[in-house]
Amino acid sequence: MKLDSVVPWGRSFQEYRSIFSLSEGDLQKKLLGCGDGPACFNAEVTLRGGNVVSVDPVYQFSGDQIRSRIDEVYPQIMSQMEQNAESYIWESIKDVAELGKVRMDAMQQFLSDYDAGLEAGRYTCASLPYLPFDDQQFELALCSHFLFLYSEHFDLEQHIQGMRELCRVATEVRVYPLLSLDGKQSKHLSAVIEALAGDGVRTSLQPVDYQFQKGATEMLVANPV
Ligand SMILES: C[S@@+](CC[C@H](N)C(=O)[O-])C[C@H]1O[C@@H](n2cnc3c(N)ncnc32)[C@H](O)[C@@H]1O
Repeated sequence: MKLDSVVPWGRSFQEYRSIFSLSEGDLQKKLLGCGDGPACFNAEVTLRGGNVVSVDPVYQFSGDQIRSRIDEVYPQIMSQMEQNAESYIWESIKDVAELGKVRMDAMQQFLSDYDAGLEAGRYTCASLPYLPFDDQQFELALCSHFLFLYSEHFDLEQHIQGMRELCRVATEVRVYPLLSLDGKQSKHLSAVIEALAGDGVRTSLQPVDYQFQKGATEMLVANPV
C-alpha cells in the first residue's frame, strides 16, 4: 500500500452505531473492526470501557503521515460529495459542510487515540483475507464500507475469502453497505451468501436505521457458530 494511493476517510461512532444497529449489549462484546481506517469507533468504544481491535493496512503508517494525507485529500472528497450530493439522504447530516465536520471530528478523535491504540495493540496493521487472530477470538466483527462497496476492485473469490476469514475469527459478522460504489447492489452478494451457506454459515439481510447513501438500507449478518 502506497500512502499517495490511500484516501483516508473515517466515520463517527454514532454512524457505526446506527449502521450496525449496535445495542449497549453489543458494545460490551469482544469487537473487531475490519477496515476501520481513521474511523473513531475504536477510540470511542475504548473510552466507554469496551474491548475492541481494529485492523487496516493503513496502520502501517504513522499518525503524522495519515494526518497529512487526510489534509491532502479532504478538499477533493468534499468537492466529490458536492457533485454527487443527490446520491445521499440529507437528514441526520443536513449538508456537505456538516458531513465534513462530522467526518473530520471523527478522524481527529482517531488521530488523538492512534499512538496509544497502536501500543495497546488496538490498532493492528493487517488485511483481509488474512487476519492475525485465533478462531472465534471475537464475538462480533464489523466491516463498514469495505467489502461489497469495492466490488469492482475485489473479485468474488476475494469477497468469499474475506468473509470466510471474518467468520473464522468472530462468532458474528456484520457488513455494511451491500451496495458497490455505483450505488447498485453488489454483484458478489448472492454468490457470497451461497458460499457461506455451503460452509454451514447462517446469513440474513437486516434493515438498519442508518440513512445516508440512497438504497443502502440493509446489512449482511453472518452467524458462523
Ligand atoms: C472507505 S474506508 C472505510 C473506513 C471505515 N470503516 C469507515 O466506515 O469509516 C475503507 C478502508 O478499508 C481499508 N482496506 C483496504 N484494503 C483492506 C483489506 N484487504 N483488508 C482490510 N481493510 C482494508 C482501507 O485502508 C480503508 O481504511
